[in-house]
Amino acid sequence: MAQWTSAVGAAQLARLLTSQQERPAGPGARRPPAYRALADGIRLLVLEGRVPVAARLPAERELALSLSVSRTTVAAAYEALRTEGFLESRRGAGSWTAVPAGNPLPARGLEPLPPEALGSMIDLGCAAPPAPEPWLTRAVQGALEELPPYAHTHGDYPAGLPALRSMLAERYTARGIPTMPEQIMVTTGAMGAIDAICHLFAGRGERIAVESPSYANILQLMREAGARLVPVAMAEGLAGWDLDRWRQVLRDAAPRLAYVVADFHNPTGALADEDQRRRLVDAARAAGTVLVVDETMSELYLDPELTDAMPRPVCGFDPGGSAVITVGSASKAFWAGMRIGWVRAAPDVIRSLVAARAYADLGTPVLEQLAVNWLMSTDGWEQAVGIRRGQARENRDALVAALRRELPGWEFDVPRGGLTLWVRTGGVSGSRLAEAGERVGVRVPSGPRFGVDGAFEGYVRLPFTVGGAVADEAAARLAAAARLVETGIPGGVEAPRTFVA
Ligand SMILES: Cc1ncc(COP(=O)(O)O)c(C=O)c1O
Repeated sequence: MAQWTSAVGAAQLARLLTSQQERPAGPGARRPPAYRALADGIRLLVLEGRVPVAARLPAERELALSLSVSRTTVAAAYEALRTEGFLESRRGAGSWTAVPAGNPLPARGLEPLPPEALGSMIDLGCAAPPAPEPWLTRAVQGALEELPPYAHTHGDYPAGLPALRSMLAERYTARGIPTMPEQIMVTTGAMGAIDAICHLFAGRGERIAVESPSYANILQLMREAGARLVPVAMAEGLAGWDLDRWRQVLRDAAPRLAYVVADFHNPTGALADEDQRRRLVDAARAAGTVLVVDETMSELYLDPELTDAMPRPVCGFDPGGSAVITVGSASKAFWAGMRIGWVRAAPDVIRSLVAARAYADLGTPVLEQLAVNWLMSTDGWEQAVGIRRGQARENRDALVAALRRELPGWEFDVPRGGLTLWVRTGGVSGSRLAEAGERVGVRVPSGPRFGVDGAFEGYVRLPFTVGGAVADEAAARLAAAARLVETGIPGGVEAPRTFVA
């Protein structure tokens, strides 16, 4: 059986290698031999996830031709990569990329550390800021006033409280997407929504196309549901969705579901434009794939010019209403502690989801639903989200400034919204950084947590949850962690216990 899941052609690998920036050598530094430079280039492509793990590399002769180097150079580079654990080969089966055994792949389960256990640790593990008070308190007080009539019922609302379903439907309608309450189901967070969708559509062994990178906990949820994840690489920087690639993958792999975060993608922060949205829906429809669109971040536009210029929701490009299922959440716009999410879909899909849910959690707590409904029926929601946007914007700008000062070699694009910065760590292993961070007082999730197959070793994700002096201190600790990694961490390291939200 072949050991590889995808292949990189010689011309493609040559293109990727030549697109790598020359890393500046220090004064007086000698150029490495050609085979070493080639091995380093391939290693970096694997670390950065631009060549996936378990991808078959071209035969030595083909790569030599594409790069105009001798076959001996390629053979020596492959041999060096094999010795370092970045390549495995078997006679007759070829060579495929790998990560070294000592290089910890992401832990499968991601567990939030309770706030009281953090001590003096700066927590960059979690992209979930505190509640925008006083709105949490006001919303709960408002909910308490509305509770008495519900107290006389059994309290199980598997599709959600009728009042909140109507409110959410009205909000979609106001965004230009006519929606009836029968098209809404309230869930326990976006996680609850996607869990229900996976159970209904993607049984064991079913394929789900996902952005690569993507949000770690959803990837894990899908793995646990037994799905086979089909990664679709995000384009460089904030360009996001390469629609030729999406069309090809959806056509070739014909996955049951495709999961995308089109509004301020987690972790890259990319925002899909309307053309990308339209083409995504078309590609999904053509392949018979249901497109699950996670709008958890959609209200977190941080650049003021976006206030009246956000692209239409993806479901707005699906007039038939059967190609797209939309997931929303109060977690990022308001507070993750509410655990309120929702699904918008065709009424028959909602009915099936509701029926399936009876075996999971029966329903979502009534008081929290009333609180969100109270916020949305007053100006509380807009006020609260406004506070949240202001905090996130300030934190983003503080973090960006501190990183540029402390870690000028780290590269990132500043997203226009969302809560996360996806940072290329100048060739330093993100997993090692996460380990070293634990020692110097900063928790940070490494890139591979957001990849399907251990890719993105050369990345970390940083959230906009700290600002001011704490952002400065966080960047200083990250720089200390990077120095530790570069000079070798003494005494070995424990497995990283970072977590993400
Ligand atoms: C894209 C995305 N989807 C879903 C979630 C989880 O949302 P919830 O707290 O509503 O379950 C998150 C949390 O970080 C997220 O970033």
